[in-house]
Amino acid sequence: GLGEEGGTGINLFSLYPTDEPRVDELRDAAEHGRVWSGRLRALRADGSGYHEECALSPVKGAGGEVHSLVVVKRDVTREVEFEARLAQNQKLEALGTLAGGVAHDFNNVLTPILGYAELALNQVEANTRLHGNLSRILRAAERAKGLVDQILAFSRQSEDTRVALRFGELLQETEELLRASIPKRVRLAVRWDAGEDGVVGNPTQLQQVVMNLVTNACHAMEPEGGTVEIGGETVEVREPEPDLAAGRYLVLRVTDEGCGMPPEVQARIFEPFFTTKEVGKGTGLGLAAVHGIVKQHGGAIRVDSVVGRGTTFRVYLPLAGRADRVEERVGARETMPRGRGERILVVDDEIEVADFLAQTLETLGYRVEAVLSAEEAWQRFSRSPGAVDLLLTDQTMPGRTGLELARQCRERRPDLPVVLCTGYASAVATEELAAAGVAVLLAKPVSPRQLAAEVRRVLDGGKRP
Ligand SMILES: Nc1ncnc2c1ncn2[C@@H]1O[C@H](COP(=O)(O)OP(=O)(O)OP(=O)(O)O)[C@@H](O)[C@H]1O
Ligand SMILES: [Mg+2]
Repeated sequence: GLGEEGGTGINLFSLYPTDEPRVDELRDAAEHGRVWSGRLRALRADGSGYHEECALSPVKGAGGEVHSLVVVKRDVTREVEFEARLAQNQKLEALGTLAGGVAHDFNNVLTPILGYAELALNQVEANTRLHGNLSRILRAAERAKGLVDQILAFSRQSEDTRVALRFGELLQETEELLRASIPKRVRLAVRWDAGEDGVVGNPTQLQQVVMNLVTNACHAMEPEGGTVEIGGETVEVREPEPDLAAGRYLVLRVTDEGCGMPPEVQARIFEPFFTTKEVGKGTGLGLAAVHGIVKQHGGAIRVDSVVGRGTTFRVYLPLAGRADRVEERVGARETMPRGRGERILVVDDEIEVADFLAQTLETLGYRVEAVLSAEEAWQRFSRSPGAVDLLLTDQTMPGRTGLELARQCRERRPDLPVVLCTGYASAVATEELAAAGVAVLLAKPVSPRQLAAEVRRVLDGGKRP
């Protein structure tokens, strides 16, 4: 880093930062005429740091006295960074597997809590104590679900529906959301130079990336506030890195003028639950989720930060090509598949559940008839078996079970699609389902999204992916 002749007359040891511990070893070896080699952090002439591999060998006179030293220094900054990145990726990978496993189990426990709390809430009168308590359970469970979702995003196990989208447009939508939620003293400056270039991705998740980064940027500038710059450009990566293949990328940049991060914080920010914020203010999942989402999209993330000056995050997402090949993403966003007037017979002995199912399906564009017992359902069906396109039935009912009803109906109409709903605990053997012609088994409580997806799939004759 000193250039030709640049090293002449300079003290060898002045070329290292004062806090580099291995300089002492180097000095010791030089003083005692020993051979030494190792890696250390060193300084360039302009004062900037780099990593070097240094080999020292003394040249001795006939009497064994050291009359000069030969020092060979090689810049290994790229290697060192490469290795660090690789190690970091492996660590995050392992953490992701662990956290993902826990989150999955946790999700399974939360689903019935949420579902039944919601159901129960609809069954009690508003303004009663019970109603209040149930709402609290529901709210707490929703918060827990939010956390679990972040962990799943980090471990890359969240649901993944992708569409081709123009990031610029997504950012515009996100900007509106952000403006409503960021503190008054923070100014948002958006500069989009990536044009109409598209990426293939999950809009909700990518939106979350932007939200999490900007939220952190706002926190970093508390309490004075300042400007958060959001930018986008396309770049070509020529030299591949462990987590970044060569190719064309859209780079989303979020820059703040906040507190910045020392290297020891930077080294850990993507770990789940790493936070420097006080209890109750941060859970340390924001960047972990960002990391997982970005990886899942085949991208990478880079950080530059200077304490006291600010931080820049860069998110690399593989480009999907020019805009004319990118589908309109209007309506592509998380819409539920709709019905086309198909007739559905809904059977559940609990009136609220039957109501909920019927209402959801009607809103989706199906024609629904809801009944409260297998007997009623059978009467209704046998009157004109051709007038039902799908049977959606509860399993556990007084009199006949859902399975028995399904079997009976399919004797009349072997091609009748059947969707069976079961309570959390009641298990039904797979062979029994197949024998009764049940296409899908839904565990209660059923979410509207799940209902919409499964009913549509069964009607379209689709198999489980
Ligand atoms: N823009 C930034 N400037 C300075 N420090 C940051 C910035 N972004 C993240 N950090 C540091 O990284 C840590 C982890 O961030 P992360 O978003 O994962 O968690 P959090 O913000 O603490 O909590 P959560 O996002 O779950 O509410 C933060 O606690 C903070 O120390
Ligand atoms: Mg955060």
